[in-house]
Amino acid sequence: MTMKVAIACDHGGVGLKGYLKDNIEAEWLDLGTDGTDSVDYPDFGYKLAEAVADGEVEFGIAICGSGIGISMACNRHPKIRAAVCTNTTMARLTRIDNNANILCLGARLTGEILAKDIVEEFLKTPFEAGGRHARRVNKLDKVF
Ligand code: RB5
Repeated sequence: MTMKVAIACDHGGVGLKGYLKDNIEAEWLDLGTDGTDSVDYPDFGYKLAEAVADGEVEFGIAICGSGIGISMACNRHPKIRAAVCTNTTMARLTRIDNNANILCLGARLTGEILAKDIVEEFLKTPFEAGGRHARRVNKLDKVF
């Protein structure tokens, strides 16, 4: 079954967003942005966070120049666990250990082919449910 995945970016991530959509098999929900006009990454991070938290899609992919700003925006939502990954090991571990539901990429730091591998690793790796990982992930629900 094809997985439903939302994807959003700021102006720094438009090229990588297009590449990932063209090269990875998924039912993509594209939340923009689409042009090179300068936009603010929190606006797109929040939209993506809501789509994932509402269950509209299984996972989200968030892209900005570094991956960091948009990850901060996504992580403001209490139901989101967003992780910036720069290699496939990080992508695998953040699924197994943290049950991450949004993967963040830095389009100015990570090349297209590596980014594709990172996304595929993230999407195919299950959370190691039960035991210590679940206990720790549950503790992330604390509201300050
Ligand atoms: C936009 O120029 C840049 O600041 C943004 O994409 C991101 O890298 C911020 O974290």
